[in-house]
Amino acid sequence: MTANQRAVLASIEQLYADMGQNTYGEGITQTEHGVQCAELARRAGENPALITAALLHDIGHLLEQVSAEHGNFRHDQVGAEYLLPLFGPEVAEPVRLHAQAKRYLCTVEEGYLACLSEASVFSLKHQGGMMTDAEVASFRQEPHFEAALKLRRWDDEGKDPELASLPFSRYGEFMQAALIHDC
Ligand SMILES: [Fe+2]
Repeated sequence: MTANQRAVLASIEQLYADMGQNTYGEGITQTEHGVQCAELARRAGENPALITAALLHDIGHLLEQVSAEHGNFRHDQVGAEYLLPLFGPEVAEPVRLHAQAKRYLCTVEEGYLACLSEASVFSLKHQGGMMTDAEVASFRQEPHFEAALKLRRWDDEGKDPELASLPFSRYGEFMQAALIHDC
């Protein structure tokens, strides 16, 4: 690992140490939510890039604080823009698409909307609500469509105290493996 890569990982760990205690209306902290998603990805046998995307998918909430209660409605874009030069599209694209994946599933999957948390239903409106037929068709053409749907389903899991209490540092090796070489 280069000195620059080490500095990138250290700054991400520091961001979660400093800002990861916020809850954004879900009754679970950002750090707990991220590690729970990453652990679900790891247990599903996913590659380091998707485990990293799961861990860091809400990093936009930590980078830009907009609403203390509900977080940043652009957090998907903000997170993806931050992650792209560090990890490439395999990590950044599922993150960019994860809020759109919620719109997609609400539109095409019967019963999905009814299972969403209150905070997630609230943010749906700000993310564009239901998709049109044209939006559904173009979302399916996204190269990281499948990864975004997987990430969305881990994102929707309610808090599991066992998974949520895992240490953030446990996923350092996956982030390291997912870093692009000359970041
Ligand atoms: Fe999330």
